[in-house]
Amino acid sequence: MKALNLIGVDKNYKLKIADIGCGSGAHTIVLAQNTNGQITAVDLFPEFLGKLDNKAKELGLHNRIKILEKSMEDLPFDNEEFDIIWSEGAIYNMGFETGLKEWKNYLKLVDIWL
Ligand SMILES: C[S@@+](CC[C@H](N)C(=O)[O-])C[C@H]1O[C@@H](n2cnc3c(N)ncnc32)[C@H](O)[C@@H]1O
Repeated sequence: MKALNLIGVDKNYKLKIADIGCGSGAHTIVLAQNTNGQITAVDLFPEFLGKLDNKAKELGLHNRIKILEKSMEDLPFDNEEFDIIWSEGAIYNMGFETGLKEWKNYLKLVDIWL
């Protein structure tokens, strides 16, 4: 939550957020609860994603969380698809520099910052 405040985006905007390497989704849930956005939560392991799916349903957030079982190294995203890419403790799995180089293409270039 503190990190979300620090980046200073307008939370009322319908943000498109990718949470890459989301695990069981602790931070995906926080993102959904503290934004008005649509979140695509990606992880390689279905058992983690299953937990996120259950939690999202329990909290009534499943309509704003799309779950995607996929490797972070083989993402099906379009260029400029997302406003925010979140990856807490996960990007290192493909290498920090490689991850930044590949994923930056998925970020929109429009100015939504406050
Ligand atoms: C340390 S956990 C962090 C999970 C979550 N972001 C959090 O902070 O609670 C790292 C996550 O990266 C995922 N991961 C590892 N390699 C991956 C890959 N190639 N593609 C997608 N996810 C991967 C793991 O399954 C794990 O859920």
